Amino acid sequence: MTKRIGVLLSGRGSNFEALADSISAGRIPNAEIAVVVSNREGAPGIDRAHARGLATRVIPSKGLEREPYDRQVVAALHEASVDLVCLAGYMRLLSPHFVAAFPQRILNIHPSLLPSFPGLESQKQALDYGVKFAGCTVHFVDENLDAGPIVLQAVVPVEDDDTEDTLSTRILKEEHRIYSEAVKIVLAGKFKLEGRRVIQLR
Ligand code: GAR
Repeated sequence: MTKRIGVLLSGRGSNFEALADSISAGRIPNAEIAVVVSNREGAPGIDRAHARGLATRVIPSKGLEREPYDRQVVAALHEASVDLVCLAGYMRLLSPHFVAAFPQRILNIHPSLLPSFPGLESQKQALDYGVKFAGCTVHFVDENLDAGPIVLQAVVPVEDDDTEDTLSTRILKEEHRIYSEAVKIVLAGKFKLEGRRVIQLR
């Protein structure tokens, strides 16, 4: 049966587009994007979703407390019969209500090798710290910031002449690759959780 993905985003939407491309190309089999939700009006990712003919919802978060806001988003995801929620540049912490509504069915992509550099401007944090390798992480989402069990990571080198822009571009390419791979693994149920460890079943 086709699995239904709900994508949540706040901005540009390149990770959303990478997922949509992977589905169209058959790299993520038996899946479709059921709805794209943004908490910000005017998010370019929503225009991109429109252009692809996908269902979209803008649910503005400004001025609302976390849980009442999340209740609206969870309702929209349930309405769309979503099986898996993919955060793709969604810049909000999820409430316990949200996390409990989709147990082990919420993924996030983050532009660092977690647990290093959670939060905002992770690529700048990595450059400022002086690490020689950076990267990205796909993880299950809990109510803590960038903290749930890790599904996949990819490493990229940091070059001496890197700027935040050049490093971000190198990391983003890997984000697009591993997010699709992780969604494929999770939708196929080809993993088990041992404590914090996500063990891939082949
Ligand atoms: C991506 O780099 C993603 O990893 C990051 O926001 C960017 C969104 O870009 N997410 C986080 O920092 C979440 N903590 P996109 O809108 O083009 O996918």
